[in-house]
Amino acid sequence: QKDKKARAIILYNFPLVDLCSNYQEQQDLFSVLRNPCAFRALQEVMIEHVSLQLTPKPEAVVALDARGFLIGPLIALHFDIPFIPIRKRGKLPGQVIQVSFALEYGTDIFEIQSVGIKSGQNVLIVDDLLATGGSLNAACQLVQQLHATVLECLVIIELVDLKGRDNVKAPVHSLIQF
Ligand code: PRP
Ligand code: MG
Repeated sequence: QKDKKARAIILYNFPLVDLCSNYQEQQDLFSVLRNPCAFRALQEVMIEHVSLQLTPKPEAVVALDARGFLIGPLIALHFDIPFIPIRKRGKLPGQVIQVSFALEYGTDIFEIQSVGIKSGQNVLIVDDLLATGGSLNAACQLVQQLHATVLECLVIIELVDLKGRDNVKAPVHSLIQF
């Protein structure tokens, strides 16, 4: 994985270190999206990971409101599979199922459309950042309530000191760790 990241950096002369420090200080995914070369390198590293390291192959991509929406569709379109959003409460039309989860202060509610995921499907969940793991684990619960399997949670950045992956009841893969 480190080799692949290095290759992306070399190919695109992409200052990943800048991205990392931005992320650490501001969690600023938008600094990547502003730079088409950086954005493309990020897309290719994610797609390469799914192509080469994930079996079986995902049958749907689920991403988390809001920043997950910026990366999930890139993967779903590449593999020609459905993109399914998880949104904060009250935003999705039609029949939804809910899960509530703890925030630093209080709770929040995530929803997914019941028609989005088919029973028995293998699902890839994507988001930009793993901090405490509360958001990703809630996403896993929604997918599992629809009787599908979470193949993996794929994030760009993992804040390892927070040990968030211990709170996620599915395999987690991060591209960059702090
Ligand atoms: C941020 C980030 C992750 C989440 C990670 O989302 O995009 O989704 O926090 O935190 P956790 O691992 O502690 O749950 P947030 O809802 O803050 O902002 P967003 O709506 O811009 O994605
Ligand atoms: Mg988020």
